[in-house]
Amino acid sequence: EKGGWNSFMAKEISEGPEAVENTMRGRLADSHVELDLGALDDEALRSIDRIVIVACGTANYSGLVGKYAIETWARVPVEVDLAHEFRYRDPVLDERTLVISISQSGETMDTKMAVQHAKAQGARTLSICNTQGATIPRESEAVLYTHAGPEVAVASTKAFLAQVIGQLLFGLHLARVRGTMADEAIAEVVAEMRELPAELRQVLAEQEAVHELAHWMADSRSVLFLGRHVGYPVALEGALKLKEISYIHAEGFAGGELKHGPIALIEPGQVVFVVVPSPRNEPLLHSKIVSNIQEIRARGARVIVVAEAGDAAVLPYADVVLRVPLTLPMLEPVLQVVPLHIFALELATAKGLDVDQPRNLAKSVTVE
Ligand code: F6R
Repeated sequence: EKGGWNSFMAKEISEGPEAVENTMRGRLADSHVELDLGALDDEALRSIDRIVIVACGTANYSGLVGKYAIETWARVPVEVDLAHEFRYRDPVLDERTLVISISQSGETMDTKMAVQHAKAQGARTLSICNTQGATIPRESEAVLYTHAGPEVAVASTKAFLAQVIGQLLFGLHLARVRGTMADEAIAEVVAEMRELPAELRQVLAEQEAVHELAHWMADSRSVLFLGRHVGYPVALEGALKLKEISYIHAEGFAGGELKHGPIALIEPGQVVFVVVPSPRNEPLLHSKIVSNIQEIRARGARVIVVAEAGDAAVLPYADVVLRVPLTLPMLEPVLQVVPLHIFALELATAKGLDVDQPRNLAKSVTVE
């Protein structure tokens, strides 16, 4: 039951810290990650030369975050595909390809069929799933359960965090097995991952600004989201959640794409959320996103930034600042996405909508 919360979505957002904790539990050693992937043993993981991630919706966006981490750490090329596009194509796959499916429910029809499609062509398969014993993990050679706990609200929130964590764990494991990352470097990431639950609690405790924003924006007709690098999937996820439960038109863009079209949408008063990487971690990316902010502000956009607590450089360019603690670049999405989830929830609530049962949507899409 909802345990005192007004909605399952609110409850599940509040469970983010435990979801992340439970996904990491028993899997973090000091300088490595312990994963038992059954048939995908070290030898199998050394034999692959490519990874394709298949998933739908929010799970697909978590895969985009996973791509950046896995490629950086394990030096294996990673593609991210929509399961329904993948299954109706003739993708190039062989026994050296690992197809990773990501699904909260483990029952999404298109994702299941993508796994079958991959198996039929001899690819190896790993399922990252939140539901014990579901169809997709049963169809896969190996499974990494996310242990986020049951997710009831149609809109996925804590499961997204756990999906990102699952891929970070896998990326570190793969990096060790393939010898692409020193123990000290893995230890540094592990140490930062251990901080995430406490940092998430801090983010959840400091969302008064989001609340005010959502009330102020309840009549908005369109909201844009901008990000770069791992902030790009965060922007896509922020936009999806807003469409899904508040029925407001929303789009996510990669910062570098602005000039290639989307900047034409900017008119005075247009609200744009910008996901900003920490300047301490990523000075170059930070300066690029600040340039993007200057470009849209010059055209009258109202800019709401999600920025790291110590980032003072972004202040002159923001109308509203939503703060998250400092972490490593690949871990940033886990914290940055939370204010966006809360924003969607609060805005839909301000509009008087049923956040748990948005119109036209089902929790698990088991038909086409
Ligand atoms: C968005 C949402 C959907 C699901 C998608 C995949 O909030 O919930 O986009 O992420 O339908 O579902 P699973 O992960 O169950 O395969």
